[in-house]
Amino acid sequence: MKVLGGSASPLLATRLARELDVALGKVDTKRFPDGECYVRIHDDLEREDVILVQSTRNDEELVELLLLQDAIQEFRVRSLITVVPYFGYARQDKLFNKGEAISSRALIQAIQRNTDTVLLCDVHNLMILTYFDIPVENVSGMLQIAQYLKDAGVEMVLSPDEGSVSRARIVGQIIGTSVDYLEKTRIDGETVKITTKMLDVYRKRVAIVDDIIATGGTIVEAAKQLKDQGAKEVIAACTHGLFAQGALEKLEKVVDTIVSSDSIENETSAVSVAPELCKAIKNYQ
Ligand code: R5P
Repeated sequence: MKVLGGSASPLLATRLARELDVALGKVDTKRFPDGECYVRIHDDLEREDVILVQSTRNDEELVELLLLQDAIQEFRVRSLITVVPYFGYARQDKLFNKGEAISSRALIQAIQRNTDTVLLCDVHNLMILTYFDIPVENVSGMLQIAQYLKDAGVEMVLSPDEGSVSRARIVGQIIGTSVDYLEKTRIDGETVKITTKMLDVYRKRVAIVDDIIATGGTIVEAAKQLKDQGAKEVIAACTHGLFAQGALEKLEKVVDTIVSSDSIENETSAVSVAPELCKAIKNYQ
């Protein structure tokens, strides 16, 4: 077995190879002057079981993933598991308005064409798994996030909205703390409104747990409310730290700590999804 990492996920690919105790393959990726992507694999993958790791946070990373799958299949590999730790476009999972694309379905159709199995991490809505025609599994980063928050002495876990409370419950159960949720209304892509709700957070170390932090709007509004109600410390925790549009700077003004997983590699990736991916991959061996 060999693990290959695309340019979006070099750290996670290295950690996964270590967890699985297998070799990490050598991949070159570069951009032509016009921006087109070029990939080359330097290992012989003939009859190998291959694990490809690449998040698809933007269109460039997505195209790189498709090229890597193509390059891997040229070797006539025995099997290919494609790990997409952060699967972009997952939030456009249905028609919200007539005339739109179901973006997650369109990308799933492209990704599943050249692989045997797909592993995803904390997808926004599990419903998108029904768009796959091949074996697919959603692995959760929440177990490792919970361990981090437990070690940090968190005394209460909050979900920013009722719809995501099941994730917060998993974390609260592992830590052994109470769980509550806020009432969020999304105004537009950048603006959210959190309705005032009295919470038992006074003098407590509180964690807000979400699947994605994108613009940070959700967490900023939630954290302000917790601080107004006397929370001693607010930790923002998510699987996917996208941090678009200066989100980190905005967050640092209102929260004490920000933690995310290595599904998107950045300075807050203190937690790894590699152990959970490793367990899932071992089930396919
Ligand atoms: C939405 O339902 C998600 O679970 C996140 O709460 C959302 O994507 C966060 O976005 P932002 O950081 O832009 O508020």
